[in-house]
Amino acid sequence: MGQEESVRVLEGKNIILGVSGGIAAYKGAELCRLLVQEGATVRVIMTRAAREFITPLTFSTLTGHPALTETFGEGSGGPLTHIDLARGADLFLVAPATANILGKLAAGIADDLLTTTALAVDCPTLVAPAMNVHMFAKAAVQENLATLKRRGWGVIEPEEGFLACGATGKGRLAALERIVAACRRALAPQDFRDRVVLVTAGGTREPLDPVRYIGNYSSGKMGHALARAAWERGARVTLITASQLPPPPGVTAVPVRTAAEMLASLKERFNGADVVIMAAAVADFRPGRVADRKIKKETLKELTISLEPTEDILAALGRVRERQLLVGFAAETEDLLANARHKLAAKGLDLVVANDVTRPGAGFGSDTNIVTLLYPGGRYEELPRLPKLEAAYRILDAVAALPRFCRGERGPERED
Ligand code: PMT
Repeated sequence: MGQEESVRVLEGKNIILGVSGGIAAYKGAELCRLLVQEGATVRVIMTRAAREFITPLTFSTLTGHPALTETFGEGSGGPLTHIDLARGADLFLVAPATANILGKLAAGIADDLLTTTALAVDCPTLVAPAMNVHMFAKAAVQENLATLKRRGWGVIEPEEGFLACGATGKGRLAALERIVAACRRALAPQDFRDRVVLVTAGGTREPLDPVRYIGNYSSGKMGHALARAAWERGARVTLITASQLPPPPGVTAVPVRTAAEMLASLKERFNGADVVIMAAAVADFRPGRVADRKIKKETLKELTISLEPTEDILAALGRVRERQLLVGFAAETEDLLANARHKLAAKGLDLVVANDVTRPGAGFGSDTNIVTLLYPGGRYEELPRLPKLEAAYRILDAVAALPRFCRGERGPERED
């Protein structure tokens, strides 16, 4: 099971997918399949131009429902289809959205089934523009997008790259993974809306010489799942990551290597943060001296590396924190509860997520984790083995229930 599928945000949701007429219309078919795979009921409305690029039969086959094309007559589903569809809709998405459809949506023009339905819906609305680079850059298109954003539409920005028209630049339909992620965020609970969340992930690497380091087995999966979950739930997320994994959509990623870099990166952002979640496996020691040339085995009979302690990042943040919520992890191989309780108190944390990393299906590298949540005061809750994204959702549930989070203590107003 993939990480996304483990928390089925789209399960049972009614999504209207509008497909307008650009070359990226063919990608609409794969998008449709992904949404169906996540458990959504997808009703497709195609513009006339979209039908020049892909047939309604493709979408009908993928969704199990006729793809709708007309306001009246054959292909319409009846004269009130736009109202019926809109009434049951949980999400309205236009992907790809051409310059023409953006103009109509911004102007409130309703001259076909897609645009009349757009006016009739009362649910989250998203557009994923795709067009030629010069068309996308035109003031008219940009102003239409600004109008839509002002009215609450989510805009899934196109990507830069080689376009079907031969040009290179911004205008390519967003990666389908980003579009699905935006749908999930539109329909997930928004209890972290606008909270600023810092998540750390991966194993730090402490250099020994230019080609060697001391590290650990952390893959970054747990931290990345937490960042994804927080973003889906409305947070503004910065992921400070020592992992090689690609960052989840929507998240600002800051790559770091060492414990010192991770600390510096956190300190820089700490004032503006509401929640810090330390899922990273941070080195406790680093080589006291880093050789500036590769250490040659020929010159040595044996090698002794003297280590010095790194700074304890969580403890350092715990000393200066004001309103910020601090969540730590405890990676243990014995006495899980006692060791985790000690870390909770010693580092001044609001919550500790303890995992016994010797258990199969828990800890380093695996797609699942088995965690126990420990709170100040002695209360704790054991969770079963869960995919890491689901464990992340449960950890965020616990954070959202903390009194300090509920009081909504926030940092200063920030610009996006
Ligand atoms: O990345 P994955 O492969 O998905 O694996 C997930 C995980 C096993 C790394 C994760 O679930 C986990 O347990 N992360 C914490 C690992 C760890 O360093 O635990 P610890 O018990 O040594 O440290 C306790 C806490 O202090 C942690 O939140 C750690 O980030 C933090 N710490 C540790 C050392 C240090 N110098 N500064 C710190 O802030």
